[in-house]
Amino acid sequence: MSVLIRGGRVITAADDYVGDLFIEDETITLIGESLDVQADKVIDASGKYVLPGGVDPHTHLDMPWRGETTIDDFESGQTAAAFGGTTTHVDFCIQGKGQSFGEALEIWHGKREGKTLIDNGFHIAVTDLREGGTLEELASLPEQGVTSYKLFMAYKDSLMVDDETLFRTMQVAADTGALVMVHAENGDAIEVLIQEALAAGDTDPIYHALTRPPETEGEATNRAIQLARVAGSPLYVVHVSCAESVEPIAIAREKGWDVYGETCTQYFFIDQEYLARPNFEGAKYVYTPPPRPKQNQEVLWNAVRTDILSAISTDHCGYLFKGQKDHGRNDFSQIPNGGPGLENRLHMIHEFGVRSGRITLNRMVELLSTNPAKLFGLYPRKGTIAVGSDADLVVFDPEKRLTISAKTHHSRVDYNLFEATEVTGSPEVVLLRGQVLVEGDRLVASPGVGQFVKRARFGDELRRAPAAVA
Ligand code: URP
Ligand code: ZN
Ligand code: ZN
Repeated sequence: MSVLIRGGRVITAADDYVGDLFIEDETITLIGESLDVQADKVIDASGKYVLPGGVDPHTHLDMPWRGETTIDDFESGQTAAAFGGTTTHVDFCIQGKGQSFGEALEIWHGKREGKTLIDNGFHIAVTDLREGGTLEELASLPEQGVTSYKLFMAYKDSLMVDDETLFRTMQVAADTGALVMVHAENGDAIEVLIQEALAAGDTDPIYHALTRPPETEGEATNRAIQLARVAGSPLYVVHVSCAESVEPIAIAREKGWDVYGETCTQYFFIDQEYLARPNFEGAKYVYTPPPRPKQNQEVLWNAVRTDILSAISTDHCGYLFKGQKDHGRNDFSQIPNGGPGLENRLHMIHEFGVRSGRITLNRMVELLSTNPAKLFGLYPRKGTIAVGSDADLVVFDPEKRLTISAKTHHSRVDYNLFEATEVTGSPEVVLLRGQVLVEGDRLVASPGVGQFVKRARFGDELRRAPAAVA
């Protein structure tokens, strides 16, 4: 099967030119002007952008946690991703207490069976090094293509690890070349604040934010950075939400340390006030870290513009408003933590990042695709448009208007964080390894087409240049 994408404006992290792309089987084999080739399928991309498929490094599909399971499984979540121009994601495989890493990975591989529409990898979330996985087993995971270790410094009732577990994992990563990821919040202090709020009868969703002040994120971010420095491991801080956490990352990067951070789409748009919405509607915005006071939004835009933060993910962790979120109606600490967003990252960042003049198109591609691919061992197979790269491509119509809504999105979540937001610019055709997934409003691929991707170790792919353009 061959595909010719003709006359599009090809945009990578570094390039911006009008050209043709020729795809044979799964990869790009020719790039040039007015290519003289025969193809089984021709896509006219004139007037459109051709972007590398999005890489979302932070999702939670089909994740059981605190008595609820996230409502999007691999089929619905990846369908939503495909419509939003994301062709690869890295999901969190959560080690259960007392479980080996191998057992956890087997369960997560089972979740994707027969359901995949895009490619994905797994991070391993380390929760138990005492009765579950061993350091030796952790060290063996990169051989299976699982090259990132995630630790939660919060959620004292469930996922949180102590500093010894964090530090020992960092030491293993320093040896194996894995990337350490942290959810950085001081879980001990937060637990005290939660118990105090509940004892005072403060049960509304707004207390989710008030019991997780930005300083608790700043403290944990700094602690993780310093510990990673001692252990000699690289560090990636997930879902950075506020100035208190941006600052220590900026300092570390200024010093040239191997420290990286991501923020998520929602932190640019949703502020703490949303949690105070009446009729329990604030529960829709209960995710962690919480939406912050509005002034943090410009801090985050500045951080992604200046490369203090390297990526934008979604932290897609969807729960129904009716039937899941409402289990915490009388106690904010029982509201399932998480929000949806897998489908709208490109829409929102294109509209309010690029069209509003905050970042360039190249930087958008870098934040949504190239940098996540580089940091998580997928580049240059993913994250760019080059000869030899997978033909994961988005033909993006910069003039197409869309009103974002739960009525039309593809996730199972019964609300949308960005409901009624109007954007100009949307994917028109989305291809995964040369196969058309989405054409206009239609999903044209069937579940099962997505593959598990074994990822390279941190740094391996950073040093490898993409294949030369023909
Ligand atoms: O609220 C969130 N973010 N839920 C998912 C788990 C996490 O902390 O990423
Ligand atoms: Zn988290
Ligand atoms: Zn998350």
